[in-house]
Amino acid sequence: MSKPVVAEVRDLHVHFPVRHGRRRLIARAVDGVDLSVHQGEILALVGESGCGKTTVARTIMRLVEASSGSVSVGGIDITHARGGALRRARREFQMIFQDPFESLPVNATAVDVVSEGLAIHRGDLDAASRRQAALAALEMCGLTPAEAVAQRRIFQLSGGQRQRVAIAAALVLEPRLLVADEPVSMLDVSLRAGVIRVLLDMRERLDVAILFITHDLALAGVFADRVAVLYLGRVVEQGPAAEVIGTPRHPYTRALVDVMPKADGGRRGAPALLTGEPPNATAATPGCRFAARCPLYRQLGEPERCRAEQPLLRAATTDHAVACHFSDLEESPTPKENTT
Ligand SMILES: Nc1ncnc2c1ncn2[C@@H]1O[C@H](COP(=O)(O)OP(=O)(O)OP(=O)(O)O)[C@@H](O)[C@H]1O
Ligand SMILES: [Mg+2]
Repeated sequence: MSKPVVAEVRDLHVHFPVRHGRRRLIARAVDGVDLSVHQGEILALVGESGCGKTTVARTIMRLVEASSGSVSVGGIDITHARGGALRRARREFQMIFQDPFESLPVNATAVDVVSEGLAIHRGDLDAASRRQAALAALEMCGLTPAEAVAQRRIFQLSGGQRQRVAIAAALVLEPRLLVADEPVSMLDVSLRAGVIRVLLDMRERLDVAILFITHDLALAGVFADRVAVLYLGRVVEQGPAAEVIGTPRHPYTRALVDVMPKADGGRRGAPALLTGEPPNATAATPGCRFAARCPLYRQLGEPERCRAEQPLLRAATTDHAVACHFSDLEESPTPKENTT
C-alpha cells in the first residue's frame, strides 16, 4: 500500500479507574495498541464486546484522553493538541455512531444537521453555499430528492435514512478519516447493505480512510481492505482482510472464524469454542491475555511461556502480523494428553 498514512495510533493505552465494591481497580480498556490507516483504506477493527473498540475510536476522536501513547491524524499529534489547533484538526476526523437516533438532534431538519459542521469549520462559506453543499452531500448519500429529504426532521426519518444523514454530516467536511463505530448494527438487516454501499461509494469518490468498527468478522471480510483483531485492549492479529479470515493465525481469530456462518448456512467444521472466563479488562496478567480461554494453550499442555510473557505482534508475512508465541504450530499441533 503506497498511499500516505492518514491516521497513526502508537502504543496507545487508555486506563479507567473503576470501583469493584470497596476495591479500586484499573480497567485497561486499551493496553498498547498500534494501528495505521492509509488514505482511501478501510480498516476494520473487530473483537468481542468490551475489548476496547469504542475506546480506541473515542480516543482517536479525542473524546477520551489517552493514558499514554499517541494518535496522529494528517500528521498532527491530536493527543496533545489544544485550543485552536485541536479545533482545526477536528475537521480532519469525523465519527459516526452506532445509534443515529441518539447521536443526532431529533428535532432538527436533515439539512440543518449537515450544515451545522460547515457553519463551525467553513467560515468562508455563506449560508446559501452551506445549504448547497449540504444538499449535495445528502444527495451523494442516496437521500433523494435531496430538496425534499432536507426539510424532514430527524425523528421523521427511518434508521437507515438517519445513518445516511450522519454520514453526510461527517463527509461534507471532507475529513481524511471517518471513524464508524458499529454504524449498521442497530439497523434492520434489510437496510444494512444500503448504508455499507454508501460508505464504499464515499471511499471511492473522496478517497477518505475509514476505520470501521464491528464485532461482525464476516462483515469486515466483505467490506474492509485490512482487519485488526482486538482482544482485551490489544491487537492480536492484523493483515489483509482476505488473509486474516482465510488463513487466520491467532487462536482467537481462528475461534472467531470458526463460528462465522458459511454462505450455505452451515458452519466451518468443529468450532474451536472459546471457553474459560469471559474477558475482564481489570485482570492484570503478565502473560498472554487470551491464555485462559485459548484452545491452543490447552492443546499444547499449558506452556509456561504463555502465562509469563506477553506475546508481541510480529510479522508472519510482509503485511500480516500476529501476537502469539505458538501460532506457527497451529497448523499441525502435537496435542498432549487430552484431559477433558
Ligand atoms: N468511561 C469508562 N469508565 C470505566 N470503564 C470503561 C469506560 N469506558 C469503557 N470502559 C471499559 O473499557 C472496556 C472496553 O470498553 P469499550 O466500550 O471500548 O468496548 P467495545 O469493544 O466497544 O465493546 P462493545 O462491542 O460492547 O461496544 C470495557 O471493560 C468497559 O467496561
Ligand atoms: Mg463499542
